Parts: sequence; structure tokens; C-alpha cells
Amino acid sequence: MSVSAVGSFWLSPSPGKLPRPRMVVRSSAVSVAPILTHLQKQCATPLPVLRHVADAMAADMRAGLAVDGGSDLKMILSYVDTFPTGNEKGLFYALDLGGTNFRVLRVQLGGKDERVIATEFEQVTIPQELMFGTSEELFDFIACGLANFAKKEGGKFHLPSGRKREIGFTFSFPVKQTSIDSGILMKWTKGFAVSGTAGRDVVACLNEAMERQGLDMQVSALVNDTVGTLAGARYWDDDVMVAVILGTGTNACYVERTDVIPKLQGQMSSSGRTIISTEWGAFSNGLPLTEFDRDMDAASINPGEQIFEKTISGMYLGEIVRRVLLKMAEAGALFGEYVSERLSTPFILRTPDICAMHQDNSDHLDAVGAILYDVAGVKSDLSVRKTVVEVCDTIVKRGGRLAGAGIVGILQKMEEDSKDLIFGKRTVVAMDGGLYENYPQYRRYLKEAVTELLGLEMSKNVVIEHSKDGSGIGAALLAASNSKY
Ligand code: BGC
Repeated sequence: MSVSAVGSFWLSPSPGKLPRPRMVVRSSAVSVAPILTHLQKQCATPLPVLRHVADAMAADMRAGLAVDGGSDLKMILSYVDTFPTGNEKGLFYALDLGGTNFRVLRVQLGGKDERVIATEFEQVTIPQELMFGTSEELFDFIACGLANFAKKEGGKFHLPSGRKREIGFTFSFPVKQTSIDSGILMKWTKGFAVSGTAGRDVVACLNEAMERQGLDMQVSALVNDTVGTLAGARYWDDDVMVAVILGTGTNACYVERTDVIPKLQGQMSSSGRTIISTEWGAFSNGLPLTEFDRDMDAASINPGEQIFEKTISGMYLGEIVRRVLLKMAEAGALFGEYVSERLSTPFILRTPDICAMHQDNSDHLDAVGAILYDVAGVKSDLSVRKTVVEVCDTIVKRGGRLAGAGIVGILQKMEEDSKDLIFGKRTVVAMDGGLYENYPQYRRYLKEAVTELLGLEMSKNVVIEHSKDGSGIGAALLAASNSKY
């Protein structure tokens, strides 16, 4: 699942071997219970906190639409002004770079009647060192993967003669789009620190790498993963207005009216609408944060940035839990008088681990015990395991509920500009990403927060729907609707 990224100049431990433990130094004997109670208090998201987050999200969206740099939210223009109609036909490729994996996909589109005739995809894990290497190395790796995949084309996939293979390039980092098929990388997120890409057109970087590979393909659309998801989901359902990714990182995009975007300065699209990628990961207003969040942020490669992302997305939830457990071990001897080196290793506990512990409903919480032993190198009895599950629940509950409040903030902003067109009818929010897909409690907390904020009646109109892997097909559809031919 895609939540497994680590932010990592830190080395992974060798599985199986327990590193040498160190003694707990307890200056004053603190017990674990008050640490847990304090954590729960600080992470609480009662209705007024949710409401504040939703309102602040809506206000920050407006400020970001007014002028570039007007708010934490970049409110990026996607240059996607029309949606795929269903008439798209032919062979298209998609390339998806956004986390620890990159995916290549081809789709044969058959127009209104046949829609998606066939798809094929491959997924490749990006080697850790490439996340910290040079731009050329990363793009060469991607172009090479694409070339190998393109070579295997056959069967149901046909390219009409005289045409180049066209690509929808999903690049899931903050990019200032300059047109539908070009955009400048503003900064890396999600633990990437590749040199030489920020400030450059990422399509040019890909084109140069494809040239070095002797690969003759053409990028027809450059899209964020949220935008690909929205386009992909909208292909099947006209009521889709918002798309949210909750995976390694997080972001949301939505359909906006061009007449309420002052920074467009009158450049209207013929449809009167455009998709805006909010880059809400950078939101920070009024979040209930703890010392663990602040310490994690300070130790990160992008301190002070992506605070919402660091509170709600998959790359970070496991690490926040680890930091809490470490404090409980050091100050409250949670795991006895020794603290294992592993528990002291940043990012050793991943979100899939806390998810697996959270699902354990066996009498003795055996899975929790096994994960604590295998991953964190600590032994535990039942009461310790219960505490660990409570910590996971506290952090995941805060994350899910804040994500729900963010979604309501977006809907609220849209409703303010288009009375009854959002809450007065069926409105679909397309969701994707490994965290959302694989973490049932997170999904439940998110939906509960949406219902609390909107009330039972109104929330019936808001359909929060998983749109699995829609972003790849969506990008290919956008390549088709922006085809050069
Ligand atoms: C990036 C976004 C992306 C999101 C989800 C964030 O870190 O800044 O561009 O959409 O992750 O992949």
C-alpha cells in the first residue's frame, strides 16, 4: 500500500535481530497514564475545533484564489477546464510519480459505447537513493521504466499510424502549472529531496530523459494525482466535484467557477469552470498539535512546511505514534526498564503497522504484541498492548476527523458561491490513497466528522466514495481530451 513511504535518510533496521537495549533513565517517576490522558486532551477534536478548521480552510482557499502567495494554500490552477466526455478513443499512456512507487499504465479507450476497452499497468518501487539523488537519475529511472513497459504493448492495444504515443503525466508534488502540459516544481514533499528539479519544468525533465532513452512519446497532460482522480471519477459520475488523496501525502482538488478566482484576472475558460488543486497539505491554521508533532516537524527535511499533511497523512501517523511510545518508555517505563534502540529509530513504526495493531481484536492482542516485538524490539503484556492501541486510536482519530473537517471546508466554500448547488443536491467526493483505502478506523472517523459538521440531513447529500486507482485512468483520459492530434 502506498502509505509505506519513509522519510528517510534513516536506515532501516535489519529485521529479526534485536539491537542492544539501553536503560531507562527516569529523572522523576512519571507513570504512563497521565501521558496518555494529556495526549488525548491535546489531540481532541470536538465540534468547535472541527468547525474552526473547516472555516479556516474555506477562508484560506479564498485568500489563495485572490493572489498567488495569499495563503498557506497555493490553490494551483490545473488548466483542466473541461472533463473527459466519454467520446475519447484510442491508445493512451499514464505515468504516475507521487510516492515510493511509480506506475505506468496504458489504456485503450473505445468512445461512448465501449468506454475503457482494456488497461494494463506496472508498478515499480523507487529505490531510496533516488529520492535523494539528482534530477537526471530520477527521471532516467522513470523513462527507462516507461520504455520497458511500452515495448510490451500488444494484444488489444493499437496506435493508429502517424501518431505518437501520448502520455498523461501524474506528478504528485506542488507544481505551478504553466499550461496543461507544462509546470514548474515548487518544492518536493513526502521525504523527496532530489536536487536540480525545483524551479524546473518537470515535463521538460521527463522529455530530456525520454530523449536519452531514445523513447519517442509525447506528454499531452501534466496533472496532480488529485486532478487525475477527479477526472477519472467524473468519467463515470457527473456529480463528482471534489477529489481527495490520503496516502503517503495528502491533497484535495475541486471544481471551481472561474469568475470567483480573482488571480485569473479575467482569463475565463469557455466552460466557466476549472479544477483547482488546493495543496491543502500546507494548511496549518488552528490545528490541535502536540510536542510530538512539533519535534517530528523540527527533525523533518521540510520543517515548518506541510503541517496538515504531517498531522493527517500516512507518511507520518506511524512516526507520531512511535514518538509517543518512546516518551512513555523513557519517562514511564512502558516497556520495562529498557528502551530498545529500534524504538528510538525515526520512522521505524510505519502507518501500516499501527493499522495492523488497530485491527487486532484477539483476547490477548497477539498481533499488537508481535508487531511491537518485531518492529520496535520491545516485549509487552496485555495492559501495555491496550495502551499502545489507545495511542494509535488517538492519533488516527485526530487525523481522520481533521481530514473530514478539511473536506467540509472545501464544500462550504463551494456552497457559499453556488447556493444549494452543493448541499442541496447529490455531491460526490472521490477519495483515493492507501491510508483511506486500508485503514477502516480512519475512514470511519473522517465520515463521522463530516456528519457531525453538516448534520444528518445535509450530510446525506454528500457521498464520500472510494475511487480506486482512478488517477491513472484519469490522467490518460486527460491526455486523450488534450490530445495533440
Ligand atoms: C503533494 C501533493 C499531492 C499529495 C498526495 C502532497 O505531498 O504536495 O501534490 O497531491 O501529496 O499525493
